[in-house]
Amino acid sequence: MKYELNKAQIPTHVAIIMDGNGRWATQRGLPRTAGHVEGVANVKHITEVCSNLGVKYLTLYTFSTENWNRPQDEVMAIMNLLVDNMDLSLFMDNNVRFRMIGGVERLPEKVQEVVLDFEEKTAGNTGMTAVVALNYSSRWEITETMKQAVKQAAEGQLKPEDITESYICSHLQTHFMPDPDLLIRTGGELRISNYLLWQCAYSEFYFCDTYWPDFHEEELYQAIATYQQRQRRFGLTEAQVENANKTEN
Ligand code: FPP
Repeated sequence: MKYELNKAQIPTHVAIIMDGNGRWATQRGLPRTAGHVEGVANVKHITEVCSNLGVKYLTLYTFSTENWNRPQDEVMAIMNLLVDNMDLSLFMDNNVRFRMIGGVERLPEKVQEVVLDFEEKTAGNTGMTAVVALNYSSRWEITETMKQAVKQAAEGQLKPEDITESYICSHLQTHFMPDPDLLIRTGGELRISNYLLWQCAYSEFYFCDTYWPDFHEEELYQAIATYQQRQRRFGLTEAQVENANKTEN
Protein backbone atom coordinates (compact mmCIF):
# COMPACT_ATOMS: atom_id res chain seq x y z
CA MET A 1 0.00 0.00 0.00
CA LYS A 2 1.33 3.41 -0.94
CA TYR A 3 0.91 6.05 1.76
CA GLU A 4 -0.32 9.43 0.59
CA LEU A 5 2.04 12.02 1.98
CA ASN A 6 1.36 15.72 2.35
CA LYS A 7 4.29 17.21 0.45
CA ALA A 8 3.99 20.43 2.47
CA GLN A 9 4.60 18.55 5.71
CA ILE A 10 7.66 16.46 5.03
CA PRO A 11 9.78 16.45 8.21
CA THR A 12 12.81 18.70 7.79
CA HIS A 13 15.02 16.45 9.91
CA VAL A 14 14.60 12.67 10.15
CA ALA A 15 16.84 10.87 12.65
CA ILE A 16 17.12 7.08 12.54
CA ILE A 17 18.36 4.48 15.03
CA MET A 18 19.16 1.66 12.62
CA ASP A 19 18.67 -1.40 14.83
CA GLY A 20 18.27 -5.07 14.01
CA ASN A 21 21.14 -5.84 11.62
CA GLY A 22 22.47 -8.60 13.87
CA ARG A 23 19.11 -10.30 14.37
CA TRP A 24 18.32 -10.02 10.65
CA ALA A 25 21.47 -12.02 9.93
CA THR A 26 21.09 -14.52 12.80
CA GLN A 27 17.55 -15.37 11.64
CA ARG A 28 19.03 -16.37 8.30
CA GLY A 29 21.87 -18.39 9.80
CA LEU A 30 24.38 -15.78 8.68
CA PRO A 31 27.13 -14.05 10.67
CA ARG A 32 26.09 -10.75 12.27
CA THR A 33 28.41 -8.88 9.92
CA ALA A 34 26.25 -9.99 6.96
CA GLY A 35 23.46 -7.97 8.59
CA HIS A 36 25.67 -4.90 8.66
CA VAL A 37 26.46 -5.34 4.94
CA GLU A 38 22.71 -5.37 4.23
CA GLY A 39 22.42 -2.42 6.62
CA VAL A 40 24.74 -0.35 4.46
CA ALA A 41 22.76 -1.26 1.34
CA ASN A 42 19.67 0.06 3.10
CA VAL A 43 21.49 3.24 4.18
CA LYS A 44 22.01 3.94 0.48
CA HIS A 45 18.38 3.17 -0.37
CA ILE A 46 16.88 5.28 2.44
CA THR A 47 19.29 8.16 1.74
CA GLU A 48 18.00 8.32 -1.84
CA VAL A 49 14.36 8.02 -0.79
CA CYS A 50 14.69 10.80 1.82
CA SER A 51 16.54 13.03 -0.59
CA ASN A 52 13.81 12.56 -3.24
CA LEU A 53 11.10 13.28 -0.67
CA GLY A 54 12.63 16.63 0.23
CA VAL A 55 13.94 15.76 3.70
CA LYS A 56 16.67 18.31 4.48
CA TYR A 57 18.62 16.42 7.16
CA LEU A 58 18.92 12.68 7.68
CA THR A 59 20.87 11.65 10.79
CA LEU A 60 21.90 8.00 11.04
CA TYR A 61 23.07 6.43 14.31
CA THR A 62 25.83 4.29 12.90
CA PHE A 63 28.23 3.59 15.77
CA SER A 64 27.85 4.66 19.39
CA THR A 65 30.59 5.24 21.96
CA GLU A 66 29.29 2.06 23.64
CA ASN A 67 29.59 -0.02 20.44
CA TRP A 68 33.40 -0.21 20.95
CA ASN A 69 32.63 -2.87 23.59
CA ARG A 70 31.26 -5.30 20.98
CA PRO A 71 33.46 -8.20 19.83
CA GLN A 72 36.50 -6.71 18.09
CA ASP A 73 35.86 -8.51 14.79
CA GLU A 74 32.38 -6.98 14.60
CA VAL A 75 33.76 -3.52 15.41
CA MET A 76 36.37 -3.84 12.68
CA ALA A 77 33.80 -5.19 10.21
CA ILE A 78 31.57 -2.11 10.74
CA MET A 79 34.58 0.21 10.40
CA ASN A 80 35.68 -1.54 7.20
CA LEU A 81 32.17 -1.26 5.76
CA LEU A 82 32.40 2.48 6.00
CA VAL A 83 35.58 2.42 3.98
CA ASP A 84 34.73 -0.34 1.49
CA ASN A 85 30.96 -0.13 0.99
CA MET A 86 30.16 3.58 1.05
CA ASP A 87 30.82 5.42 -2.16
CA LEU A 88 31.02 9.07 -2.99
CA SER A 89 28.76 8.67 -6.03
CA LEU A 90 25.73 8.13 -3.76
CA PHE A 91 26.17 11.67 -2.45
CA MET A 92 27.32 13.32 -5.68
CA ASP A 93 24.55 11.77 -7.81
CA ASN A 94 21.89 12.94 -5.35
CA ASN A 95 23.39 16.38 -4.55
CA VAL A 96 23.64 15.24 -0.90
CA ARG A 97 26.10 16.76 1.53
CA PHE A 98 27.86 14.29 3.83
CA ARG A 99 28.74 15.19 7.42
CA MET A 100 29.78 13.31 10.51
CA ILE A 101 28.99 13.89 14.19
CA GLY A 102 30.94 12.20 16.98
CA GLY A 103 34.55 11.94 18.07
CA VAL A 104 36.60 11.55 14.91
CA GLU A 105 39.96 11.05 16.68
CA ARG A 106 39.20 7.53 17.98
CA LEU A 107 38.24 6.20 14.54
CA PRO A 108 40.78 4.15 12.56
CA GLU A 109 42.88 6.38 10.32
CA LYS A 110 41.40 5.07 7.08
CA VAL A 111 37.86 5.82 8.34
CA GLN A 112 38.96 9.35 9.27
CA GLU A 113 40.35 9.77 5.76
CA VAL A 114 37.10 8.66 4.11
CA VAL A 115 35.02 10.90 6.36
CA LEU A 116 37.21 13.92 5.64
CA ASP A 117 37.27 13.15 1.92
CA PHE A 118 33.46 12.81 1.69
CA GLU A 119 32.93 15.94 3.79
CA GLU A 120 35.26 17.99 1.59
CA LYS A 121 34.02 16.67 -1.76
CA THR A 122 30.34 17.06 -0.91
CA ALA A 123 30.66 20.45 0.84
CA GLY A 124 29.18 22.26 -2.18
CA ASN A 125 26.15 19.96 -2.52
CA THR A 126 22.97 21.89 -1.86
CA GLY A 127 20.35 19.17 -1.39
CA MET A 128 19.84 17.04 1.70
CA THR A 129 22.55 16.72 4.35
CA ALA A 130 23.21 13.09 5.40
CA VAL A 131 24.77 12.99 8.85
CA VAL A 132 26.48 9.85 10.07
CA ALA A 133 26.84 9.58 13.86
CA LEU A 134 30.08 7.69 14.46
CA ASN A 135 31.70 7.19 17.85
CA TYR A 136 28.80 9.35 19.02
CA SER A 137 26.68 9.42 22.13
CA SER A 138 24.59 12.20 23.56
CA ARG A 139 26.09 12.09 27.03
CA TRP A 140 29.58 12.33 25.52
CA GLU A 141 28.46 15.28 23.39
CA ILE A 142 26.93 17.13 26.34
CA THR A 143 29.99 16.41 28.50
CA GLU A 144 32.26 17.87 25.80
CA THR A 145 30.08 20.98 25.59
CA MET A 146 30.29 21.46 29.36
CA LYS A 147 34.07 21.10 29.31
CA GLN A 148 34.27 23.77 26.64
CA ALA A 149 32.04 26.12 28.64
CA VAL A 150 34.03 25.65 31.85
CA LYS A 151 37.26 26.31 29.95
CA GLN A 152 35.83 29.53 28.50
CA ALA A 153 34.61 30.55 31.96
CA ALA A 154 38.01 29.88 33.51
CA GLU A 155 39.54 32.13 30.86
CA GLY A 156 37.06 34.84 31.85
CA GLN A 157 35.20 34.68 28.52
CA LEU A 158 31.90 33.25 29.76
CA LYS A 159 29.54 34.35 32.53
CA PRO A 160 26.66 32.26 34.00
CA GLU A 161 24.10 34.43 32.19
CA ASP A 162 25.79 33.61 28.85
CA ILE A 163 24.76 29.96 29.26
CA THR A 164 21.47 29.86 27.39
CA GLU A 165 19.71 27.13 25.42
CA SER A 166 20.97 28.80 22.30
CA TYR A 167 24.59 28.75 23.62
CA ILE A 168 24.28 25.02 24.28
CA CYS A 169 22.70 24.28 20.87
CA SER A 170 25.45 26.17 19.11
CA HIS A 171 28.16 24.16 20.89
CA LEU A 172 26.70 20.68 20.37
CA GLN A 173 27.92 18.45 17.52
CA THR A 174 24.60 19.13 15.80
CA HIS A 175 25.02 22.94 15.79
CA PHE A 176 24.56 23.11 12.00
CA MET A 177 21.08 21.60 11.85
CA PRO A 178 17.64 21.93 13.41
CA ASP A 179 16.36 19.40 15.95
CA PRO A 180 14.87 16.18 14.56
CA ASP A 181 11.18 16.40 13.70
CA LEU A 182 10.87 12.63 13.48
CA LEU A 183 12.96 9.99 15.25
CA ILE A 184 12.59 6.46 13.88
CA ARG A 185 13.89 3.35 15.62
CA THR A 186 13.77 0.05 13.79
CA GLY A 187 14.27 -3.40 15.35
CA GLY A 188 11.57 -3.47 18.03
CA GLU A 189 13.30 -1.87 21.03
CA LEU A 190 11.53 1.05 22.71
CA ARG A 191 14.42 3.27 23.80
CA ILE A 192 16.66 5.96 22.37
CA SER A 193 20.02 4.58 23.52
CA ASN A 194 21.95 7.79 24.19
CA TYR A 195 21.07 9.33 20.81
CA LEU A 196 20.34 13.07 20.39
CA LEU A 197 18.89 13.34 23.92
CA TRP A 198 18.93 17.14 24.04
CA GLN A 199 17.82 17.52 20.44
CA CYS A 200 14.83 15.13 20.68
CA ALA A 201 13.04 17.18 23.35
CA TYR A 202 10.08 17.76 21.01
CA SER A 203 10.66 15.17 18.29
CA GLU A 204 7.91 12.77 17.29
CA PHE A 205 8.90 9.12 17.81
CA TYR A 206 8.14 6.20 15.51
CA PHE A 207 9.12 2.70 16.66
CA CYS A 208 8.71 -0.40 14.50
CA ASP A 209 9.61 -4.08 14.72
CA THR A 210 11.13 -4.25 11.22
CA TYR A 211 14.86 -4.93 11.23
CA TRP A 212 16.90 -2.18 9.62
CA PRO A 213 17.88 -4.15 6.48
CA ASP A 214 14.14 -4.64 5.75
CA PHE A 215 13.07 -1.05 6.49
CA HIS A 216 12.36 0.10 2.95
CA GLU A 217 10.61 2.97 1.20
CA GLU A 218 7.07 1.85 2.04
CA GLU A 219 7.72 1.74 5.77
CA LEU A 220 9.48 5.10 5.70
CA TYR A 221 6.34 6.46 4.03
CA GLN A 222 4.28 4.88 6.80
CA ALA A 223 6.49 6.54 9.44
CA ILE A 224 6.12 9.93 7.77
CA ALA A 225 2.36 9.45 7.29
CA THR A 226 2.07 8.69 11.02
CA TYR A 227 4.14 11.79 11.80
CA GLN A 228 1.83 13.89 9.63
CA GLN A 229 -1.17 12.78 11.69
CA ARG A 230 0.35 13.99 14.94
CA GLN A 231 -0.34 17.40 16.40
CA ARG A 232 2.91 18.95 17.58
CA ARG A 233 2.10 21.18 20.52
CA PHE A 234 5.47 22.21 21.96
CA GLY A 235 3.87 22.66 25.39
CA LEU A 236 0.82 24.60 24.13
CA THR A 237 -2.80 23.45 24.34
CA GLU A 238 -4.63 21.82 21.44
CA ALA A 239 -6.83 24.92 21.05
CA GLN A 240 -3.84 27.25 20.97
CA VAL A 241 -2.20 25.21 18.23
CA GLU A 242 -5.42 25.08 16.20
CA ASN A 243 -5.84 28.87 16.48
CA ALA A 244 -2.24 29.45 15.45
CA ASN A 245 -2.75 27.20 12.41
CA LYS A 246 -5.94 29.12 11.43
CA THR A 247 -4.06 32.43 11.62
CA GLU A 248 -1.25 30.99 9.48
CA ASN A 249 -3.57 29.73 6.72
C1 FPP B 1 22.43 -1.97 15.04
O1 FPP B 1 22.11 -3.28 14.77
C2 FPP B 1 23.37 -1.48 14.07
C3 FPP B 1 24.63 -1.05 14.36
C4 FPP B 1 25.19 -0.97 15.70
C5 FPP B 1 25.51 -0.63 13.29
C6 FPP B 1 24.84 0.19 12.24
C7 FPP B 1 25.67 0.11 11.06
C8 FPP B 1 25.23 0.03 9.82
C9 FPP B 1 23.81 0.11 9.40
C10 FPP B 1 26.21 -0.16 8.74
C11 FPP B 1 27.16 0.95 8.56
C12 FPP B 1 26.53 2.22 8.11
C13 FPP B 1 27.09 3.13 7.31
C14 FPP B 1 26.52 4.49 7.19
C15 FPP B 1 28.26 2.82 6.50
P1 FPP B 1 22.56 -4.38 15.82
O2 FPP B 1 23.87 -4.92 15.37
O3 FPP B 1 22.57 -3.81 17.21
O4 FPP B 1 21.44 -5.43 15.64
P2 FPP B 1 20.82 -6.38 16.76
O5 FPP B 1 20.14 -5.49 17.77
O6 FPP B 1 19.86 -7.21 15.99
O7 FPP B 1 21.94 -7.16 17.34
